[in-house]
Amino acid sequence: MQLYTLKSQVETSVQKTIRLEKTIGLVPTMGSLHQGHLSLLKRAVESCDIVWATIFVNPTQFNNKNDLKNYPKNIKNDLELILKISKNINVFSPEISEMYDSELKTETFDFQNLDKELEGKYRNNHFNGVGTIVSKLFELFKPNKAFFGEKDFQQTRIINRLIKIKNYSTELVICPTVREQNGLALSSRNALLSTINKEKAAVIYNKLIYCKENFEKTSFKNIYNNCKEEINSISHFELEYLELVNNESLEKEQKIDANNSYRIFICVLVNGVRLIDNILVK
Ligand code: PAJ
Repeated sequence: MQLYTLKSQVETSVQKTIRLEKTIGLVPTMGSLHQGHLSLLKRAVESCDIVWATIFVNPTQFNNKNDLKNYPKNIKNDLELILKISKNINVFSPEISEMYDSELKTETFDFQNLDKELEGKYRNNHFNGVGTIVSKLFELFKPNKAFFGEKDFQQTRIINRLIKIKNYSTELVICPTVREQNGLALSSRNALLSTINKEKAAVIYNKLIYCKENFEKTSFKNIYNNCKEEINSISHFELEYLELVNNESLEKEQKIDANNSYRIFICVLVNGVRLIDNILVK
């Protein structure tokens, strides 16, 4: 395993890989790795010659200073977990100053309203921050494939659009959500939950299953009310949103069209910690 902190080191290594006509797989992360991140790395190792994991808590995608400050960090443990998957995965973990100028300049993208829905409504400029760092990483690594999790489905739609805007030749590979046994989607933020709240947070996935099962049986209004009541009845739990949207545009639609597919997205605040998840319902 090579651990690099400088872009110049990566550039030299990437040029060598390209000269040797080997394929590059990129797995961008913010660290504090769990089995969800590791599933992306495993998938990358299976299909690419050279795999890079990046560990960088990207400041421009945090709209809330406390969220950024509290974001869990554990690089030593991260490196151990990566080594267990393969000795051949390289890691890039730069300082903020290596990726940004002192003003943390963020690019503004035309994501065709994908960034205005769901998370975008609650996290101002979040997706411009994601687009900014991911485009910096794509330009540095020139990956043949980049691996992202379905857990952050809106993010995958944003990256898909980013690839088109910037004309990158990278293939986007979307990997399924890895869950705890109780159904809770793995997330670095779960480390901020108490043991009891982590157990109770199983309600999030349970309600998504309920949504899928009842999607064609009753109105979404009824489904929404049921979920809100149950979630908000748990102390310190608050439903931030539960939305039914078109799987492609992520927009709400008045009428369900038999030819379209739909996804339900949820965000629950557990003692102030934002937990998101989603499920394809049709
Ligand atoms: P982070 O939250 O660290 O997630 C890194 C990648 O792991 C993302 O593609 C995310 O969707 C995926 N992931 C997280 N939890 C998962 C789970 N339970 N199952 C499967 N995949 C999971 O997403 C980011 O970082 C950042 O926005 C980033 C893309 C790195 C840009 O800064």
